[in-house]
Amino acid sequence: MKIDETDIKNRSIEELTADYPFITSYFSDNNLDIEDKNHLSLEDKNHLSLEDYFRTFDEEELEDNAIDVELHYRQIAEFVNQMNAFLGQGEDKVKSVTILPGTDKSGTPENFEKMEIKQGEIICIVGPTGSGKSRLLGDIEWVAQEDTPTKRTVLINNDVPDRKWRFSTSDKLVAQISQNMNFVMDLSVFEFVELHAESRMIKNREVVIKRIIEEGNALAGEKFSPDTPITSLSGGQSRALMIADTAILSKSPIILIDEIENAGIDRKQALELLLSEDKVVLMATHDPILALMGDKRIVIKNGGIHKIIETTEKEREILSTLEEMDRKVLAYRTALRAGEVITEIN
Ligand SMILES: Nc1ncnc2c1ncn2[C@@H]1O[C@H](COP(=O)(O)OP(=O)(O)OP(=O)(O)O)[C@@H](O)[C@H]1O
Ligand SMILES: [Mg+2]
Repeated sequence: MKIDETDIKNRSIEELTADYPFITSYFSDNNLDIEDKNHLSLEDKNHLSLEDYFRTFDEEELEDNAIDVELHYRQIAEFVNQMNAFLGQGEDKVKSVTILPGTDKSGTPENFEKMEIKQGEIICIVGPTGSGKSRLLGDIEWVAQEDTPTKRTVLINNDVPDRKWRFSTSDKLVAQISQNMNFVMDLSVFEFVELHAESRMIKNREVVIKRIIEEGNALAGEKFSPDTPITSLSGGQSRALMIADTAILSKSPIILIDEIENAGIDRKQALELLLSEDKVVLMATHDPILALMGDKRIVIKNGGIHKIIETTEKEREILSTLEEMDRKVLAYRTALRAGEVITEIN
């Protein structure tokens, strides 16, 4: 995906530097001190666009420093496109993920031709405990080529995926929020997120790390601090942190979520944070509300894909009623968590 001058002009500096970490070298080479926050007097500095930044210069300053704003937009766009081509990024968009049938637990072939999931779609995976939901997510993560217990095949953009996607850790195809998360490393929350930020070449690290910890805390119940050791986070807190980390740091085009409901976190908020238009999202769930939030759902039975159902209009209506009920239940949850005694139902 090539970017043009308008993108450069309108997107926030925060976003641009997160997406194209190398862009900061353009700024420094051209004596544009975007980190100089004192120069800027606007409220929310992190969300400033490049256009806003250039607006902080007056005519005289622009002339004295020979700053040609339009030329900068053009040059930056060109620089980003060249760097992306050079780094082999940007072009490899995942437009679709295709699942070809394998066999269920009894070895019976799955009864569907193929399932193509397009960019921007949310697919839920439902089915009884032990039926094979996590297995299906595993097949996609591994980009199965008939080499998993299900013998399924997974195609990316209708093709057998590039080896680099299957085995590279930096260019990760898939971001996964798994069912069981056990940290063994002796790191603080800050150090843990920092490690991720570093490995993803994020330049404005401090800002991004701070945001991840804040968003994580917004999802969790009891707050944790940047210097809390990750090993002492609760199950719910660590999932909240992982969700925020994935949502904000991950560039992976495919997001796999294995049950966010049991973490005791605000699942709707978590989902909103994770969803983004240019991703393929698959989520295994036992939760009827999450199940109906998807565009389609895959029903798993005895290890096989049993049905693929498109969420109907009627179901969407029912979803709003369920959400209303859920808000009530959550209010009781909050009350009980806070040590209240419930005396009536409303
Ligand atoms: N098609 C298959 N062929 C062989 N084994 C399978 C198949 N599908 C699933 N399994 C195996 O069945 C077991 C249970 O599957 P899995 O963990 O995916 O269940 P689940 O639906 O995620 O359950 P839960 O709701 O408890 O999370 C796993 O060991 C998995 O590898
Ligand atoms: Mg599972």
